[in-house]
Amino acid sequence: MTPDLSTTVAGIRLSTCIYNASGPRSGSAEALHKIAQSSAGAVLSKSATLLAQDGNPLPRTWQHTEASLNSEGLPNKGIDYYISDETISEILQSDSSKPYMVSLSGKTTADNITMLRKMVGNTKIAAIELNLACPNIIGKPVVGYDMEQMKDILDQVSQIPNLPPMGIKLPPYLDSVQFQQVATLINQYEWIQFVVSINTLGNATAVSVEAGMPYISSNDGFAGLSGPAVKYTALANVRKWRQMLRPNIDVVGVGGIVTGRDVLEFLLCGAAAVQVGTQHWSEGPKCFDRIVQELSDCMKELGHESVTSLVGTLQPWNKAGAAKLRALTKNLNETPVKSSSSSAGGKEGFYPALSAVLLLIVFMLVYDKFTTNGTVPTSREL
Ligand code: DHB
Repeated sequence: MTPDLSTTVAGIRLSTCIYNASGPRSGSAEALHKIAQSSAGAVLSKSATLLAQDGNPLPRTWQHTEASLNSEGLPNKGIDYYISDETISEILQSDSSKPYMVSLSGKTTADNITMLRKMVGNTKIAAIELNLACPNIIGKPVVGYDMEQMKDILDQVSQIPNLPPMGIKLPPYLDSVQFQQVATLINQYEWIQFVVSINTLGNATAVSVEAGMPYISSNDGFAGLSGPAVKYTALANVRKWRQMLRPNIDVVGVGGIVTGRDVLEFLLCGAAAVQVGTQHWSEGPKCFDRIVQELSDCMKELGHESVTSLVGTLQPWNKAGAAKLRALTKNLNETPVKSSSSSAGGKEGFYPALSAVLLLIVFMLVYDKFTTNGTVPTSREL
């Protein structure tokens, strides 16, 4: 049976539990339309500011296999573009059933409130992701690390009625005191229906030893870290939020997802859905079709029928699980031995035999040369 990959976030149905993170390839209707055409379960815009802006000077991004850095400084087309009927119909075209979500990252609390007021009663926007975690605005603290500023904005949003379903995007946290403070705050606001975790790890630097300088020019080379390097921090944050937040707040996991197997890890830790950012950036929108297929194959192989039945089912470490892992490792170690002995007459046996014959021929030629001349050449003769 084909596993059911659908899920819900804030009561909104997503046909698959995988969609794009706000950031790469999400700044224009054209790019967002490509996501809408893929197997992604939703489409999320780039974080909008009140007015369009160009962002930080170039180069402001750097990519490596295990990690990426960005310090873009919120280049975007401004809120009016992302919420206009024209943009939304260009993104969704014939598939208006795919949820379209808007991310906001105002430069001030007042800007965020102004942008939210523009979306009151807009039924074409399935949900709003209020970004409290952008680390790249020079001279501005990350709201999610400043409890007073965070409480102030959450209080002010509470005053706005008839908004589309609302979630907040959080930065990564590393300490249990921080987790406790943030969870206590978030749990007080009924309007928070989902939490997206994690944004990039702020203030990372990648250095070129040849040039003796950071790769990124903006913000003195300090930038947000993303990609596989942050996956383990992201998994832990998702797990913590699932343990600490009200059960009716959905957790959306993001950070370092490359494969369908990564998605499964996030589901087990408590994510109801996941977003893909860095991999979408490097691979393009076809990554959604690939990851959806891999998740389906992996679930089938492990006998899981649906995404919703997997969410938050990670078990504490236990002896039965450890025995299963030992058996798996043993099988893996034994497999190559079996295959090489069973194919001794096959391709694997051919190359060593060929090398032995060639070695023998070389040996015979050298032997023949030295014995026919009767002498070994001296250095003077050479
Ligand atoms: C940018 C980076 C972020 O991590 C984010 O959440 C929003 C914007 C940026 O630099 O453009």
